[in-house]
Amino acid sequence: MSKRVVDGAVLITGASSGIGAGLAARFHARGARVIISGRDRTRLEAVAARHPGMSVIIMDVADPESVSRGLAAVARETPYLTTLVNNAGIQRLLDFSVAEPPGPADLTAEIDTNFAGLVTVTAAALPLLRRAPKARVVHIGSGLGFVPYARTPVYSATKAAVHSFTVSLRHQLAGSTVQVVEIIPPVVDTPLHRSLPSTPPMAMPLDRFLDRAIHGLDAGKDEIPVGLGRVSQIGARVFPKRLFSLINRGD
Ligand SMILES: NC(=O)c1ccc[n+]([C@@H]2O[C@H](COP(=O)([O-])OP(=O)(O)OC[C@H]3O[C@@H](n4cnc5c(N)ncnc54)[C@H](OP(=O)(O)O)[C@@H]3O)[C@@H](O)[C@H]2O)c1
Repeated sequence: MSKRVVDGAVLITGASSGIGAGLAARFHARGARVIISGRDRTRLEAVAARHPGMSVIIMDVADPESVSRGLAAVARETPYLTTLVNNAGIQRLLDFSVAEPPGPADLTAEIDTNFAGLVTVTAAALPLLRRAPKARVVHIGSGLGFVPYARTPVYSATKAAVHSFTVSLRHQLAGSTVQVVEIIPPVVDTPLHRSLPSTPPMAMPLDRFLDRAIHGLDAGKDEIPVGLGRVSQIGARVFPKRLFSLINRGD
């Protein structure tokens, strides 16, 4: 049986910019019912205004009560979901080598958003996903989940956790109507890198990344490594130390 899921009703977390907003536009252009979510109503409404019919739900994935409220609002808009894209994410440069290490809020923000948030949203959305004849949960992982960038140590660890959770969730839901997908991006040109002095030189243009991600989803793939995301995935098994040195050279 084909794994391909029709577009239907799509919920995307962290869709006010970058990859989330880009995926929302792609699904909307194909006629899907798209619900975008995030923390900032003004930014979300600016995205929705460009795509008539797209709806906005406020949901802070790092706050379990906000997630419950958000999914209740989603359930009022649609009786089922065919796609959940767990995309919301933040990235921090954290330096543990200095005399004054990062404070508690900085230490856990990425864990709460990138990992705990993704798990919370997945659990809350599963009942709506199970109501569709075929559905999928799409996790936005990272090549850094396979080979860490040491200047973003907690971020990299959250993406390793996302990969591990994805593998277990896929195993648990095997044979169900819900497919579990991990997209493994390379560096993509989005505002995520705002804490770096400049966008990394090897960043993939957002549109090219979106083309490749949508192509993988349409092909029904469980894992969609894109560009250097694939290099990290394979290199982590074949030459982990060399790849770590390469990614962290000069730091
Ligand atoms: N760009 C890359 O190079 C790259 C590479 C690998 C993986 N990724 C992953 O791709 C995903 C999207 O990142 P991006 O590159 O598109 O960055 P981005 O443009 O900064 O987008 C991040 C989105 O997440 C939202 N967000 C942050 N915290 C949130 C929270 N607590 N609750 C709900 N939404 C929240 C932000 O919206 P508000 O701040 O308005 O709420 C924003 O819409 C992330 O998971 C990131 O780790 C990106």
